[in-house]
Amino acid sequence: MDLQTGYRRSLTSTCSMRSSVSVSRRVFAVHPDSRFPVPRRWRAELARILITESQISQRVRAMSRTIQRDFIGRELVVVSLLNGTVMFLADLVRHLNLPLRLDFIGVSSYGSGTESRDLVFTKELRLDVRARDVLLVDDILDTGKTMVRVLQKLRALEPRRIKTCVLLNKAARRIEKVHADYVGFEIPDYFVVGYGLDFSERYRNLPFIGVLKPQIYKASNILA
Ligand code: IMP
Ligand code: MG
Repeated sequence: MDLQTGYRRSLTSTCSMRSSVSVSRRVFAVHPDSRFPVPRRWRAELARILITESQISQRVRAMSRTIQRDFIGRELVVVSLLNGTVMFLADLVRHLNLPLRLDFIGVSSYGSGTESRDLVFTKELRLDVRARDVLLVDDILDTGKTMVRVLQKLRALEPRRIKTCVLLNKAARRIEKVHADYVGFEIPDYFVVGYGLDFSERYRNLPFIGVLKPQIYKASNILA
C-alpha cells in the first residue's frame, strides 16, 4: 500500500474490450481504513475523508491520459450524466487532448436519499451519436440501474462504440450486470459525498470525497 497517498494500486490487468481496442485497466482501491483530517466545518456531517483533493486530481489526470491513448485519431462524443458529474467531467475533459463534443443526459432518481429507485430522464441528448465514438461519463456506479437504462437508450441511437467511465465504483452494491471501462477508484459500500456527489443536492461543492455520517441521511426524509 502506498502510505503517502492512502490508496493502493491493487491490481493491474489488461482487458479486451468488445471493440478492437485493448484497454489497460488499473484498479485503484481505496483503503477502507485510510484516515485524513476532516475540515472543522464538515466534522458534524462527515465521518471521514475517503479520497483527498490531490488523490482525485492525480487519478483523473491519469484517466484522461488512458482515454486519450485509447481514442487517438477519433473524434469523441462525451455524454455526461447530470448533475453528479460536474466536477469530474470538467477535470477529465480539460486534460483530454482530443477533438470532442460534449452533451448531457439528465437523470434523476426519486426515492429515499441514498437509494436510486425510479429513474426519470430530465434532459435528453441533443447531439447525434450515430456511428460516433461515445464516452459515457457518470459519477458513481452503484447498483448499475442508471448505467443500464442509459446504455439502452444510447445503443438504440446506433453509435460506433460506447465506452463507460466512472469516477467511483461500489462493486459490492451491484445488482445489474454492467461494468465501467474506466474507473477512477474502487470504494467500499459507504455513502459518499463531494466532488459533485450529493446527498439531497448538498455537498457537491466539496473538493474531496467524504463519507456521510449515517445519522445525517437517516434523520433526513427529504427526497434525493
Ligand atoms: P445506481 O443506479 O444505483 O448505479 O446509482 C447511480 C447513481 O446513484 C449515481 O449516479 C449517483 O447519483 C447516485 N449514488 C449512488 N451511490 C451514491 C453515493 O454514495 N453518493 C452519492 N450518490 C450516489
Ligand atoms: Mg445523486
